[in-house]
This record gives sequence, structure tokens and C-alpha cells, in this order.
Amino acid sequence: MKAVFMLLIAGSLTLNAQNKIPVYLDENKPIDERVEDALSRMTVEEKVAILHAQSKFSSPGVPRLGIPENWMTDGPHGIRPEVLWDEWEQAGWTNDSCIAFPALTCLSATWNKDMSLLYGRSIGEEARYRNKNVLLGPGVNIYRTPLNGRNFEYMGEDPYLAGKMVVPYIKGVQENGVAACVKHYALNNQETNRHTVNVVVDDRTLYEIYLPAFKAAVQEGDAWAIMGAYNLYKGQQACHNQYLLNDILRGEWGFKGVVVSDWGGVNDTREAIFNGLDMEFGSWTNGLTEGASNAYDNYYLAQPYLKLIKSGEVGTKELDEKVRRILRLSFLTTMNTKRPFGSFATEEHALAGRKIAQEGIVLLQNKNNILPIDLNTTKKILVVGENAVKMMTVGGGSSSLKVTYEVSPLDGLKKRIGSQAEVLYARGYVGDASGNYNGVVTGQNLEDNRSEAELIAEAVSMAKDADMVIFFGGLNKSNYQDSEGRDRKELELPYNQDKVITELVNANQNLVYVNISGNAVAMPWVNQVPGIVQGWFLGTEAGNALASVLVGDVNPSGKLTFSFPVKLTDNSAHTPDGNLGAATYRFPGTKDEVKYNEGLLVGYRWHDTKKIKPLFGFGHGLSYTTFEYGKVAADKKEMTTDDKITFTVNVKNTGSREGAEVVQLYISDLKSSLPRPLKELKGFDKIKLNPGEEKTVTFTVDKEALSFFDPDKHDWVAEPGDFEALIGASSTDIKSKVKFKLK
Ligand code: BGC
Repeated sequence: MKAVFMLLIAGSLTLNAQNKIPVYLDENKPIDERVEDALSRMTVEEKVAILHAQSKFSSPGVPRLGIPENWMTDGPHGIRPEVLWDEWEQAGWTNDSCIAFPALTCLSATWNKDMSLLYGRSIGEEARYRNKNVLLGPGVNIYRTPLNGRNFEYMGEDPYLAGKMVVPYIKGVQENGVAACVKHYALNNQETNRHTVNVVVDDRTLYEIYLPAFKAAVQEGDAWAIMGAYNLYKGQQACHNQYLLNDILRGEWGFKGVVVSDWGGVNDTREAIFNGLDMEFGSWTNGLTEGASNAYDNYYLAQPYLKLIKSGEVGTKELDEKVRRILRLSFLTTMNTKRPFGSFATEEHALAGRKIAQEGIVLLQNKNNILPIDLNTTKKILVVGENAVKMMTVGGGSSSLKVTYEVSPLDGLKKRIGSQAEVLYARGYVGDASGNYNGVVTGQNLEDNRSEAELIAEAVSMAKDADMVIFFGGLNKSNYQDSEGRDRKELELPYNQDKVITELVNANQNLVYVNISGNAVAMPWVNQVPGIVQGWFLGTEAGNALASVLVGDVNPSGKLTFSFPVKLTDNSAHTPDGNLGAATYRFPGTKDEVKYNEGLLVGYRWHDTKKIKPLFGFGHGLSYTTFEYGKVAADKKEMTTDDKITFTVNVKNTGSREGAEVVQLYISDLKSSLPRPLKELKGFDKIKLNPGEEKTVTFTVDKEALSFFDPDKHDWVAEPGDFEALIGASSTDIKSKVKFKLK
């Protein structure tokens, strides 16, 4: 009311005859009516103004009408610190240190939708408190190659899983009156040449692999915003793309929300007008470091658009459509007076992050039950590796954060173990000691000028004397090591870590390797090292979460959401298989083009179909207890396309401690007119079991789970014939199968 009153004084708004507030401010009116009312009050200049940025992360509102500005924030793992109005440099605020949540690879590895909801709610509350109404995340680009520097921001290689996991995140965020802006739509699967590369992919692969998670985000998650990708598709930038935005997103899926460009992802006014874009951000920047000051009036959707309208070269139909969508965003977020107020950097959020981390950590290998650490017999533990001490929340690109605190693995272990054992540390290797991103500095001094030989000698001599050695290595969000803008150069661990690990295990066989990364790495020493843990980038509570799993307070229950190949050429985007075309068309392609010639065979679909054994398969993850699977049963032998079929399987905890198991359903089409991957994930359920407890897991599927996308019909087709349902503890550990028919 106060805002209305002030506007009345300014004389720019008149009350209607009954002395009522204007329709667009009346929250009892349907949003569509409010949108039309606001639209009718706006000048063409005001309309164009709201289409593009006014600063690095904000766009104007309509000051005359009291419609607030839009404020965006990265995303997707925490709320980005404030940068200067017009620069990427830090604004130097002292109230913007957030809680960092685990990277999305870890979230997806929980295979637990409740964790996704908890994540969305928590980060949504942080965004809301910081007065941001659009969160730039989550990311659901498919993991095509382990070299993609941004895989850590995404949800793995399987479209079904990513689609299921993204939905609760979005709902949780939007409960706060904050829009989730799902990114990067679409086909943004590498950083190399990301601004120039045109992705060539067949329709079937597009619809079956690269689009489903976005479709779920839009149709099931009701995302209020989506971010276009940098790359091109069919020769057009994804941010203003007739096919991706007009035809598919809006046409086929009925998306009502706002399409936001990626920062600097727009390069043509007419395409931006006609091909589905609503809001333009970050033009004249590479999205990360460069920026031209005060260029906002020159944005493609700023003066150039206005000029075209004023000269009569283009009409205002598209403009009004864009404005309607942006107004709707405002009504759902900033102008929703009933939305909650949020909360920021709370203990509750830190604990939520820890819980998610604990469920997402994956126990990859546990020979001789080396884990959990037995504190009755283990009295001296040597921790080795830079990643045991390095802060990981700073770095990696736009998802870099400024945090209230971050518990390192070493500190987490020390705190948990206390006086029960001695915990010693040796550096082992020096990776990247710099510790600053975009003006946020970790404040850690990680300089160490000793030679490689000296560092190894120290670690090895200490290892000989220890009961157990835990090596924290992997990648680190520095350039080329899990970072935006730069893909990795190889599957191998950087900084000669393989050498350190080999020498350590030769000195002490009780070695546990904890891989801190968002990507698969090569492990040439896999047969020598008994314990291997996938430790992700876990955020604020990283060290506490890792310690709880290593010591066994928490029984690990995460499972991989992407395959670890033995060697890079075992991955389909890197295969030397000549049938898939010239080498230049494999990852990363040329500057201008990359062809996804492996088609549908991404990740486990490739490993399975081509019988290439992965190092660790999709869906793999061990527990400190054991599970016994019964035989899967189907409730019928035949089904029709209007029908459903239900599979049941009993799973029993046969070990001596409580644990959780992710039971996975894969479907295999035994005969089909178009080639299909050997099997595909179509269901999963995470169940908690006490020792000795048994539960029945039920999966009900319909024709959707049996369908493929027929490019000629441009539709999903469930073809009659024989199918098989496979129940597994992972894609490489199928416990039983049952055949059925689709009539
Ligand atoms: C990234 C986006 C990010 C944006 C704003 C771009 O470089 O690709 O994911 O949201 O910058 O920081």
C-alpha cells in the first residue's frame, strides 16, 4: 500500500472509479489479468528496458509503476558474492558469505529426491534472504565426456536420473518465491570453444539424451526460468534458437517462463527478437572475466531493438510477449507479498549441506574392509595430499563462492578422531597454491617450494610408520581441473599424483584414496589401493561429511551417476572407432563444430552396448553392510500401451549395520526396428534397511519407459514386442531379470 500511495503522489497512477488499487497490484486477481494490466500501462521504452541487463547481475524494473528490478545470482551451489555494479570484481560487501552446498554431481549421487528438495529449499532460502529473485541453476547438461570442465555443476550422464533429481530442487527453490533458472539449454557439454561450436546431433539423440532433464524441469518442475547455452545448434546460438526455444521449449513443451541468455550468449538482434529469448545478460563479456563498462544501452535487445521498432521495421508483438513473461516472473517472485523472507548462512543450511554430502559420497572400492577406519586398531593415521587442506569453494568459474567457513578434510578428520588416534599430515604434491577467484581469496598459504622428490620422500617415510594412509587428491577447480571455461586435457590425475599414490602404497598397503572431483579420473593403481572413495566438491561441511563416512558414523549410500572409464578412449566421445567419423569430430571437435557421432551411446549406454568394461560403472557404490536381492517378479506377462506393469523385488540387509541401498530398474528392448542401447535406467528407489530387515521395492512403469523417439514420426513410439526388466545394484551389477511383452 505504501508503494501505491507514493506513486499516487507522483501523479503517475490514478485509482479507478471505486477507489481500488490497480489490477496489476491486486494479488487477488489472476496473474494473467495483472500482466495485461501492467503491460497496458507501459511505454515502449519501458518495455524494452526490462529486456536486458543494467548491471552484471540485474535488470531494470519499471520504476514508474513500482515494479522491482530483477536480481539474479549464481548458482547452483550457493549464493555468489556481490560483484561491483559493472565489473566482475568483488564489491567488498561483508554480509555476503554464504553456505556452500555440495556440487550437483554429489546431489545426484544421493539418488534421493528428498535430498534434492532439501537442497532446493535451503539454497532458495539463502537466495531469498540475499534479495535475489532468480537463482542461476540448477544445471542439467548431460555428462558426455569426463573432460568437460563443468561436469561438477551437473547431474551426471543419465537423462532419466537427472530429470528426476532436478524437479524437487526447482520446487524447493521456488517455494521461496525465487525462480530457478535451469541451465544451460541445451547441448552445452564442453567448455572448449563454447562460444563458437555448433553441436551436430541427430534428433533421436537430442530428444532421448540431451533434452529429457530440461523437459522434466519445465513440465514437472514448473521452472519459471531457463538459461540458454553458449554453443550453437543448427547454426544458431542456443540463446536465440528457433528450434530449441520456439519449436521445442515453447511449442512442444508449453514453457511459460522466461528465457534468460547466458552471460554474453547473445549476438544478433533479429534472432534475439524472433527466436524465443526474453532477457539478455552479460553481452560484451566472455561471461567470466572481461567486461565493457556501461554497454547496456548497446545490448542487442536495447537501443538496437528500440530503433527497429521505432523505424517500423519490426512490430511489437514479440516485445509484448517477452514483457508478459518477464512481468509474470515479477508477480511470482518480487511482487508476491506472501513469499517467505528466507534465511542466510544458518547452521540449519550447513547441516543440510552436510547431510546431502554424507548421502552423496560414494564408496568405490573397499578391499579387506579397510573402511570404515577401525579406531581400536588404527592409532596413527597419515593424511597426504593437497586436497586434504585446500579450500574448494573458491574457484571453478561462475559457481565460485565466498563462504562463512569451509571444513577441510584434514580438519574434519582431526576433529572427529580427536585423541582416539594420532593424525599426521604430509603434503605429497603441490598442485595449485594460489587460492583466489575473481577477487575472493581463501587466505590460505599453500606455497611449498620443496621439490617433487622431497615431498614424496617425506610422505613415504611417514607412511612407513603409520597404521593407515589416507590420500586426498583428484582435481581442484583450477584452470583445466574441473573449471568453467576450460576443459580438462586428460583423464589422468594432474600434478603427478599417480606417482605419489604408487610410492605410498608400496610403502604402506593400508591406503585409502579419496578422489575430490566432479569428474572421473584414471586410476592405474586401482588394483593396489584397497580403499577408494569418491569425495566430490562438498562445500562448507566437506571435511565433516568425509570424516563421518571414513570413520563409519555414516554408512555410505551414494552411487555414481556417471561411468569411470579405464582410459579416455573407452568413453564414446573419445573413441578411436573409425565408424564414428573423423577424429576432428570427436570431442572437442573443431572451433566451429562438434559432431555427437556416438549418438545415443553416451556413458553406460556405450560401455554396455559395446561391452567395454568401465573402471567403475554408472550406478555403482558400496556400503559398509551387504544387501541380498531376491528375484524380480512382474505382475503380468503382457501389457498394452494403455496399461501399466509392476515389478517387485525383495532386498534384505544381510550385514550387521543399518544401511541404504539404491535399487535400480533398467529396461531392455529385446527387439526393435531402430537400434537401442542395451539397457536404460527407468526407475530407482533408495531404501533404508536395518540389519536383517527386508523390504519389497516396487516399480510401476507404463509405455513411456519402453518408448524411443522416432525421428521420422517426430514422436515417442512404444513398439510392440519383447522387453526385459533388469534389477541391479548398478548398471554393471544386475541381480535378476524378467521378460515381458508389449502388445
Ligand atoms: C555461465 C553461467 C553463469 C553466468 C553468470 C556464465 O559464464 O556460463 O552458468 O550463470 O556466467 O555468472
